[in-house]
Formats: sequence, structure tokens, C-alpha cells
Amino acid sequence: FHVDWDPSAVTKDGYPSFMAKEIQEQPDAVRRTLQGKVDAQGRITLADTDIEADFLMGLKKVIVIACGTASYSGQIAKYAIERWARVPVEVDLAHEFRYRSPMLDQHTLVLAISQSGETMDTLMAVRYAREQGARVLAVCNTPGATIPRESDAVFYTQAGPEVAVASTKAFLTQVTAVLILALYLAQLRDVGVGAEIGDAVEELRGIPEKVKQVLASERQIKDLAGALAGAPAVLFIGRHVGYPVALEGALKLKELAYTHAEGFAAGELKHGPIALLEPGQVVVVIVPSPIGSPILHAKTMSTIQEIKARGATIIGIAEEGDSVVNTWADEVVALPPTHPLLAPLLTTVPLQLLAAHIALARGMDVDQPRNLAKSVTVE
Ligand code: G6P
Repeated sequence: FHVDWDPSAVTKDGYPSFMAKEIQEQPDAVRRTLQGKVDAQGRITLADTDIEADFLMGLKKVIVIACGTASYSGQIAKYAIERWARVPVEVDLAHEFRYRSPMLDQHTLVLAISQSGETMDTLMAVRYAREQGARVLAVCNTPGATIPRESDAVFYTQAGPEVAVASTKAFLTQVTAVLILALYLAQLRDVGVGAEIGDAVEELRGIPEKVKQVLASERQIKDLAGALAGAPAVLFIGRHVGYPVALEGALKLKELAYTHAEGFAAGELKHGPIALLEPGQVVVVIVPSPIGSPILHAKTMSTIQEIKARGATIIGIAEEGDSVVNTWADEVVALPPTHPLLAPLLTTVPLQLLAAHIALARGMDVDQPRNLAKSVTVE
């Protein structure tokens, strides 16, 4: 098979690390992944993925399987596919899926998300799903890898080679891919959300430029990282698509800085984790848009007040101009506004930068963290 990657794409190009380079490449990675997927009329086309429209129109269920960072893009897929295409979605870690007797048939689409396309847990789940009669669509970043070869169809993300062990640009392209898929399903199944679909497609086209704007906040995040480098633990919370983003923020910090970190749904705070709060505890809050998601924004603000009342330090990742969060948070990273379901493409970026800069401040190797492998080929 032919791999059309540019060899210069595997050098650091003057960046101090592959991680730094790959974070900066994200606007282009997302732009390339969108290329050819939206036609001049603003309609999504998936002509190059071999997935039959008839099958998708009769679809009864989607099950996403993945591991690690890829599994969080799967959680985002659930919000987008259920909202736009009205098809029920389950999300499972590949190693759990395989051993829980999942219910699958010929009307089930299994979405296998893997940057490397070689993760053994995900591969075994793909084989199992096909044996049970489901159709498998791989979302993969590596041309010709085993998972896409063993799947019925493949949507290639266009992140280019990702060298740093912890995933950054591949994640953003996985999120892009699942949003495109959700919009395509909505378009095919015509479930009465036409106007919203058009707006979301338009917004998606402009997202690489907004990712670039978010990257401009690196200086602010680096300073913040310097202040947080000694924190023994950091909590990340979010609602709706901000919840998987919180999980990804926590995973990145564990992987890169070896700092204990935990992500959870903001609504869960009062059901237990609130016991952890005390002065000095840092909580990063992914704040929904006050305009696009006013109800979730209000709920998040009451959570922020509960955190504040316990004296913990609050870092808000919020939409620019959100004056309410500014009154409560100790520090706010302001992002351009976007459609609520596209927000992870922006809110994830400051968390990657935060983890990378905390790791650097702690003297860690951000490209090759201890104990981790880029692709885990054992079950
Ligand atoms: C390993 C890597 C993670 C990655 C996971 C899934 O554990 O260290 O960064 O998210 O595998 O990898 P995949 O290639 O299947 O996306």
C-alpha cells in the first residue's frame, strides 16, 4: 500500500518537542480532515469511506469502541449522533465491550476509533463485532493499519504522523471525524434538524481558524502552569461534551506530568468528590457557552459557587465575554464562541497546553512519558 506522508512531517521542525509541534499543527490537521467532506452546497459527503447509505438509513444503534484518548472522542460522538441523527449510541472501552455480551446485529454500526489502528484491545473488539454480524467503520489515522484493514469501511483522519506518545492532534481530528459522521447521518436520515445541521457545517468550516486563536493563549497557560507545577492533584469537571473533555484533560496531565488528576461530570461533584475540596485544591472547570447552552451554563455556575465556598482554586475554560465566570474563577482562559457540540475542538486545546507546560515545569520528557507506549499491541 502507499503511504503519502511527507518525511519532513516526522522531524521536530525547530520545535522543542514533538508534543509542542503536534499541538501547533492542530488547525491544519483539522482542516485536512475536513477536506473533501463538505461540498459547495454545504452538504456532507462520505463517498470515500465505503459505507453504504442504505445501511446507514436503516441503522438502529451505534456502538463506539476505543481505548484511552480515542474513547473520549467516542463519548463526544454520542452527544453529536444522538442530537443530530437521533440514533441511540453506546460508548464502550474496547476491552470491556468484548467481554460483556453486547447486543449487536446487522443493523448495528460499530465505530472503532484508533489513532494507530494497531491497539490490540480495539482490534479484538472489531473482530468480535464482525463475528456477531455488525458493520464496523474504523476511524483511524494510520493508512493501511490492521484495524482499518479488518473493518468494513474506514474514515481516515488526516492528522499526519503523531510521534509524541500522548495523543493531541489525532484526538482533535477524531472529534472532527465523528462530528462529520454525525452530520452525515443526520443529513441522510432527515430527522428534522436541517437548519441546525447547516449552521453546524458552516461553523465546522471555520473551526481551524478558531483553534489557531486558542493556541494564541499559550503564554497565559504557560504562566498558569508555572503556578500549578507543584499541585499534588488537579480535578477537571465539565458537563455535556465538556465531560469527556474533562476526562481528556485529566488523562493528559497524568500522562505528561505524572500529576494525580481526575475528571468527572460536574453534576457529580455534589455526589461525593466535593469531599475533596479544600483551600489549595485546583479545579479546572470546562464552562458551557452562556449563549449557546444557557441552562448548562447556569448549572455550571452554581457548581463553581459550591467550589468557591470550599476555598478551592478555580480555573475556568470559558467563552470570551462570559462575565459571570469572571466573577467567580481565579483565572479564566477565554475561547472564541462556537456551536455547543463543536466546543471540544476548542476547549481541549488549553488543557493539552496546560498538561504539557506543567510537565515541562516539572522537568518531564513530554514526548516519551515513562511506562507508556504509543500503541499497545497486547491485550
Ligand atoms: C495508548 C496511548 C494513548 C492512546 C491509546 C489508544 O495507551 O498511550 O495515548 O490514546 O493507546 O491508542 P489508539 O492508537 O488506539 O488511538
